[in-house]
Amino acid sequence: MAEDKKITIAVDGYSSCGKSTLAKALAKELDYGYVDTGAMYRATTLYFLRHNIDLDNSEDVKNALCHIQIGFKSFEGKNCTFLNGENVEEEIRGMEVSNKVSPVATISAVRRAMVAQQREMGKEKGVVMDGRDIGTVVFPNAELKIFLTADMEVRAKRRRDEMLAKGQIVNLTDIINNLKERDHIDSTREDSPLKKAKDAIEINNTLLTKEEQMNMALELAKSRMEVRV
Ligand code: DC
Repeated sequence: MAEDKKITIAVDGYSSCGKSTLAKALAKELDYGYVDTGAMYRATTLYFLRHNIDLDNSEDVKNALCHIQIGFKSFEGKNCTFLNGENVEEEIRGMEVSNKVSPVATISAVRRAMVAQQREMGKEKGVVMDGRDIGTVVFPNAELKIFLTADMEVRAKRRRDEMLAKGQIVNLTDIINNLKERDHIDSTREDSPLKKAKDAIEINNTLLTKEEQMNMALELAKSRMEVRV
């Protein structure tokens, strides 16, 4: 019987480029697992905030990391992030975590712990993982690497619409400034900076609909799944 080979799909890119929208849709279509690695850094940040962990104290950070277990489960039809068994999906998307997550993601001990968990989650392949370093560090041998980009104005409007849907009104200029700051921190950090992997395929979705973007990615995925007989 012919069977498609399961592959690993890495979706990397800057904040608010639509990575999770694409990665979730791809995973659904292919019946693959989906891992939102940004949510893992967010859950870690939430733990640090709750336990007043001093980011400059490497012993405290190391100890705290031993007590953090992150998982994903579907709840009421939504993919939710669990921190030590507690559903923290709402809380990790709030401003408090959003404002602290980029500095937390610069800490090497944090990255090592997250990357180890991510490799474990993806070891069987058949997974779509989105983040910043998936194609460069977590799975450098992923069969398909997509690097998503979009113009700043479009990214900021998408973020504004997401926030509006949650009842939060934020000025577009403030969003642009926040995105620029996060881009800067993510791409200039010493450990695993955000960059396009050499063998990644760049998709600029500024002028693409979600369907057009999805079709392009799906074609690429199918071309990488050689048929096994
Ligand atoms: O995708 P996001 O906005 O939820 O990511 C939150 C933060 O985590 C962002 O500042 C970048 C960081 N991150 C990272 O450093 N590496 C990843 N693989 C995923 C996210």
